[in-house]
Amino acid sequence: MNVNGLTRRDFLRGASAAAPLLLSPRAWGGNAPGSRVNLAIIGAGGRGNGLLNNTVHLPEARVVAVCDCFVARRETMRDQLDTFYGGKGVTAYADFREVLARDDIDGVIVATPDHWHVPIALAAARAGKAMYIEKPLGVSLAWAWQLREAVQARKNVFQYGTQQRSEAQFRQACELVRNGYLGAIERVEAWCPDMSSQYAAFSVPRYGSTEPAPVPDGFDYAQWLGPAPEKPYTVDRCTCYGAYHTYDYALGFIAGWGAHPLDIVQWGLGTDATSPVRYEGTGTIPTQGLYDTIDSWDVECAYASGVKLRFMGHRVAEAVVGAYRPWKDHGTTFFGSEGWVSVDRSGILASDPKLLAIALKETDTHLKAPQSHMHDFVTCVRSGDAPIAGLEAAIRSDTICHLSDMAIRLGRAVRWDPGTEQVRGDADATAMLTRPVRAPWDLSKPMLR
Ligand SMILES: NC(=O)c1ccc[n+]([C@@H]2O[C@H](COP(=O)([O-])OP(=O)(O)OC[C@H]3O[C@@H](n4cnc5c(N)ncnc54)[C@H](O)[C@@H]3O)[C@@H](O)[C@H]2O)c1
Repeated sequence: MNVNGLTRRDFLRGASAAAPLLLSPRAWGGNAPGSRVNLAIIGAGGRGNGLLNNTVHLPEARVVAVCDCFVARRETMRDQLDTFYGGKGVTAYADFREVLARDDIDGVIVATPDHWHVPIALAAARAGKAMYIEKPLGVSLAWAWQLREAVQARKNVFQYGTQQRSEAQFRQACELVRNGYLGAIERVEAWCPDMSSQYAAFSVPRYGSTEPAPVPDGFDYAQWLGPAPEKPYTVDRCTCYGAYHTYDYALGFIAGWGAHPLDIVQWGLGTDATSPVRYEGTGTIPTQGLYDTIDSWDVECAYASGVKLRFMGHRVAEAVVGAYRPWKDHGTTFFGSEGWVSVDRSGILASDPKLLAIALKETDTHLKAPQSHMHDFVTCVRSGDAPIAGLEAAIRSDTICHLSDMAIRLGRAVRWDPGTEQVRGDADATAMLTRPVRAPWDLSKPMLR
C-alpha cells in the first residue's frame, strides 16, 4: 500500500522510533517534547501531492485533513491517506476555514494557486496555526505585509516553499559567498524557465481559451476564485497552467519559478531583510487568450550596496549563462573579485574547482543544514524555532518579483525604499502594490466560519 509511491512499511519503519501520540502539542499549550504534530494539506493538486510525499514518511508528523475545491482530489487524497495509515482518521474538507477551526490541527501545508496563499496564511496565523506556504507569496505585497503583522503578533511558525534552501549545493554556494571566498561580490545572475517552457502543455489557442464554459460537476468554482475578480469559468482557467499564468491569480513564472533562484540570491548575499533599490527591464506579455502574465523577461536590479542582479527568463539567459557554463534552464551565479560560483538543482560549478574544495573554518558562518525542507518545518512546529525559510525572507524576495513585474509593465525604472517599503515617486507603481479583495472575502477580518 502506498501514498504516491511510499509504502506503508517504509512509513512504519520510520515511525517505529516515534513517540506515540498521546496529546497534540496544542493540547499541551505548546510543543511538547516528543509529541507528533497534526497537519492538514490545503490544495490537493500536483504540488500538494508532492508535499504529501515529503510529509507522510516523517514519524514526527501525521496528515489528518485535506482540503480542495475539487471533490475528487480531496477525496482521493483522503482515501490514499486512510489506506496508508490503516484507518479512517483523515477528513476531507471543501472549505479551509473548517480545517482552521479544528483545535487538534497544529499546522497547515498550503499548495493552492498563488492568489490564495496569503489569504489562507492570514487566516491560519489568526487561528494560531503553523504554516508551510508554497511560493510565491502571491499577488499583492500589501497583503503580504498584513501577513507579516499577523505572524509577528502571534509568532506562528512559518516555512516558505523555497526548498532549494534545504539542499546541500545551494548551501555550499551561499556559504562560499557569505564567507568571502569569492572576494567582494560584484554581481549576480538569476534565471529560470519562462512561460514558453510550458507552451507544449497549453491547449489551443496557445494562451488559454477565453470561451465561457459550464463549471464541471464536483468543482467549487466560487471557492477557487475566492478573493480574485469574478470571471466566467473557462476550461483553461482552473488548471495549474491557468493559475500559474493568469494575472488575476499570479504574476507568472517571473514569480512562480523566479522565487527559487531569487531566494538563493538573497540567502547568499545575506539580504533576507532587504531588497534591491532599483529595477529596470523588458519583457513580453501575450496579447491573446487568457494568460496575461510576463512570458519572457530581462531585468536589471541594483542593491543599495552597489551589487547588481540580472534576473532573466531562460530564453534570455541561454546566451548569457551559456557563455561561461554548461547550460541549465535555471540557476544562480555569484560573481566576486576572486571568481564565480554557479548553482542549480543538478549541482554546483565554479570558475576554479579549488573553490568547491574549500572546507569552512569553524569561525566561518555556517548556514542551517536541515534533513529536508519539510522535516525542518515539522521540527520547528515541535520546537517553536524558526524554519530555514522565514516570512521576512519570503516577503523580500517576493518584492523583487513584484517590482520586476511593475518595471516591465510600466516600461520604466522603478525605485524602491526597502526601509519604508515604498516606491519612490511613482504613483502607478505604488497602486500596483495592492489589489482589491472580492467580497465576501475581507483580509481585515478573521475569515473564520
Ligand atoms: N516549491 C515548488 O517547487 C513548487 C512546485 C510546483 C508548484 N508550486 C506551487 O504550488 C502551488 C500549487 O501548484 P499546483 O501545480 O499544485 O497547482 P494545481 O492547480 O495542480 O493545485 C492547486 C490546488 O489547489 C486547489 N485550491 C484552489 N483554491 C483552493 C482553496 N480555496 N482551498 C483549497 N484548495 C484550493 C485547487 O482546486 C487545486 O486542486 C502554486 O502556488 C505553485 O506555485 C511549488
